[in-house]
Amino acid sequence: MVDSWVNSAERIGADLHVELSGPGGRRAALIRALRDAVRGGRLPPGTRLPPYRSLAADLGVARNTVADAYAELVAEGWLTARQGSGTRVADRTAPLRPAERTPVKAPPRARGPRHDLRQGTPDASSFPRAAWLASYRRALQQAPNEVFGPGDPAGRRELREALTEYLARARGVRTEPERIVICSGFAHALRLLFGPGSGLPRGPLAVEAYGLDFHRGLLAAAGVRTAPLPLDADGACVERLDRERAVLLTPAHQFPTGGPLHASRRTAVIDWARARGGVLLEDDYDGEFRYDRKPVGAVQGLDPERVIYLGSVSKSLSPALRLGWMVLPERYVDGVLAAKGEREAWASALDQLSLADLIASGAYDRHVRRMRQRYRARRDRLVEALSTQAPHVEVTGVAAGLHAVLRLPPGTERSALKAAAWQGVALDGLAAFRHPATDMAPQDGLVVGYATPPEHAYAAALEALCRILPPPDGRRGPAAG
Ligand SMILES: Cc1ncc(COP(=O)(O)O)c(C=O)c1O
Repeated sequence: MVDSWVNSAERIGADLHVELSGPGGRRAALIRALRDAVRGGRLPPGTRLPPYRSLAADLGVARNTVADAYAELVAEGWLTARQGSGTRVADRTAPLRPAERTPVKAPPRARGPRHDLRQGTPDASSFPRAAWLASYRRALQQAPNEVFGPGDPAGRRELREALTEYLARARGVRTEPERIVICSGFAHALRLLFGPGSGLPRGPLAVEAYGLDFHRGLLAAAGVRTAPLPLDADGACVERLDRERAVLLTPAHQFPTGGPLHASRRTAVIDWARARGGVLLEDDYDGEFRYDRKPVGAVQGLDPERVIYLGSVSKSLSPALRLGWMVLPERYVDGVLAAKGEREAWASALDQLSLADLIASGAYDRHVRRMRQRYRARRDRLVEALSTQAPHVEVTGVAAGLHAVLRLPPGTERSALKAAAWQGVALDGLAAFRHPATDMAPQDGLVVGYATPPEHAYAAALEALCRILPPPDGRRGPAAG
């Protein structure tokens, strides 16, 4: 099989990496190198070799040196030369050294669950392909040449300007382009903020007692100890902040339990940060998606010098884009930029320009609005299905976001998850999000990502979900197997 490197070489009719070394002059070295490349499988049968002139120019040797080397290898049977088809690697019925070439097995195709209700992704089938393509095309057409050189570690100014306007309008964030640093998403932001040199206070980081295990792992890998804050009906109990000087919260929509941080706690956490010289890391992962409650703006708006605001397109567009932003207090900007490094932007300049265009043209707002309606309709269907088929199950966290939490009677989460697996329904239980060191009483529940399935698969996913829920008396029905 011809690999992609060779394919591209074939198409452009040119590039070939050979190293001329060893005894006997350049002609002999070239013959040796080409023979080895054929023998080792790097140049498979049928591969077209570059014309004498271009290979000679690349290698800095005379044309005749290449012509002689090709002729020698044709004579030996390694290459063939035909009028009109150039010089190619000879076809052989059997590879020369089969033992050297391990057959490459195609990786097994990952088979997804029958009903995917895992939280974490927007409906991938709704990615705004046409709008993104239009923005990408405009961005590419209008991009100055310097876009194709090394980029500013802060990210493209066009995107930072578009975000300044958008975040102020949509999320109540107060900032300016100089305080925004583009990154590849929230996870990358955490790595930068807790890596060396960012200037963030050292020591334990307070987090919510329920949160994403992946983020806790990432912090642990960076040597950060996390101290869990219990949750109650008003969100994280920030009055429990103690010796920590940094706290990570999801104020607009607690992840995963779903409520907003109460207004009194929003001001309390700012008071704490001011009094202790602390900082709040605000994870605004799905702030755009609110349905029937008053918009909850970013806490950052209360004090831009005490809050690091973090966002990304992972919920609004797609986690595959890997584009996010940090809105920083002024004192952290230089440290975070230094941590990011001079040379690597960590986000494609063209993608950044496309997103800037998507926002500035209004297409981003239109997409978010359309998706909000669609997700709200799904949320309504979920609530409706549960109210008729499992009225004993309480649904929480449904005023916003892309997931809901179904509260279960104590001790029934595990069996509900078993039943889910039996029915081909993929979802998580609340236990998966619980901080191992929290003293909060465990809560039983299922986290249902209702945005995940494509539209056509949603009805069946809902039916399957209702089948796995424990009956009113808490005993499992036959579905659990
Ligand atoms: C709690 C939480 N924070 C942040 C994010 C965004 O992460 P990222 O930008 O790294 O994709 C997610 C996932 O979308 C999330 O669930």
